[in-house]
Amino acid sequence: MPAEEPDPGATERPADLMDKVVGLCKRRGFVFQSAEIYGGFRSTYDYGPLGVNLLRNVKDAWWDAMVRRRDDVVGLDAAILSPPAVWAASGHLTNFTDPLVDCLQCHQRWRADKIEGVCPACGSTSFTEARAFNLMFKTHAGPLEDEGAVAYLRPETAQGMFVNFANVLQTTRKRPPFGIAQVGKSFRNEITPQNFVFRTREFEQMEMEFFVPPADAPRWFDYWLDERYRWYVDLGIPESQLRLRHHDASELSHYSVATADVEFLFPWGWDELEGIANRTDYDLKAHAAASGERLEVFDQASGDRYVPYVIEPAAGATRTMMAFLLAAYAEDEIGGEARSVLRLDPRLAPYQVAVLPLSKKETLEPLARSVLTLLQRHFTCDYDVTQSIGRRYRRQDEVGTPWCVTVDFDSLEDASVTVRDRDTTDQVRVAIADLVGELDRRAGRE
Ligand code: GAP
Repeated sequence: MPAEEPDPGATERPADLMDKVVGLCKRRGFVFQSAEIYGGFRSTYDYGPLGVNLLRNVKDAWWDAMVRRRDDVVGLDAAILSPPAVWAASGHLTNFTDPLVDCLQCHQRWRADKIEGVCPACGSTSFTEARAFNLMFKTHAGPLEDEGAVAYLRPETAQGMFVNFANVLQTTRKRPPFGIAQVGKSFRNEITPQNFVFRTREFEQMEMEFFVPPADAPRWFDYWLDERYRWYVDLGIPESQLRLRHHDASELSHYSVATADVEFLFPWGWDELEGIANRTDYDLKAHAAASGERLEVFDQASGDRYVPYVIEPAAGATRTMMAFLLAAYAEDEIGGEARSVLRLDPRLAPYQVAVLPLSKKETLEPLARSVLTLLQRHFTCDYDVTQSIGRRYRRQDEVGTPWCVTVDFDSLEDASVTVRDRDTTDQVRVAIADLVGELDRRAGRE
């Protein structure tokens, strides 16, 4: 097979990066507009066959780092529907608001803190007085739509950890410092959802509440800032596109005494991927007062009971997935032909391996399928017999598949296959007996 040399000079971020990534997401089945056949439903998206793999891999990478590889963090999966009492105690019923204004000229509604006094639609500077708009989705549980049946879709996963604090303490015997982690859907009735899946009304969060003795909170805050920043770097976001930004007092949420964001350089500028907050004992004390339960721990050393402080790294799974796509997208040239490639970390790529029989001829099919079955035990694999081998390589490059394994007619004789690398396009012959070991080594799994 001809050697394909990538042109290393041609990997600048394209000016129309956002359009290119959004187009790729639609064309290749990462993200679809929700209810598209009915004209779409604004700000809601469906994750297609490739997107669901990528999103799951993002969440798995988070769970791996935050829960599975630690003995001081446990998991939780709490309900999405919850009673008003939770949100009254947490302060969300009163405080979880954005300032809403109407443009007096074109009557569009905006978040006052995002438009700097000028209507983005018509340029007018005349608005109504800002009024507090609560972002929670309200619904009714059961057949009666009366006040007693009101329920809310959670606007953050965090409260599930606080209301289960005593349950987790009793069942796991964990003591501070320890954390409770959760990945799941949250809902906010955003006034201006925008930028594709960056800000949507239905989204997924990856949050962890880390309970610590109050005096240790500043140290753990710094620890989690560092850990969380490193997580993005480890999974391939260049440090030139990442920064930490500390909030000033006016930006802090109602529960926080210190917050810093991990920000990514999106095509429209720096914006938030994750917030790390020192929530103090605000939530546990509020739920203890409202429910009458004791939400505190016993300190062996002093013999005192105390309410721990909470350090919370709170990330968006869907938003982070988008950042990984933007950071991974590149264009280069191979043998004079332009290609687009997603240089995704193998742990995130929707498919890690594509098995490609060189020809559709039936003689190759049994061996190619047995290679596929062998690899499926270890990797997420695609299998593609359509079009020329060059076209198939381009299709796999475009969706970020790190390795293509080509089964050709020589494979029938020498029990070997060709492994092609997405980034270098180098091709080497590998014995089928050594294939899993070779790919494990390349994936850094040894
Ligand atoms: N429990 C704290 C909390 O929810 P947040 O900063 O409001 O903090 C955490 O949300 C993360 O959730 C954000 O950094 C962002 O990644 C994600 N997120 C928040 N609102 C979102 C939205 N409307 N669409 C997509 N992701 C969102």
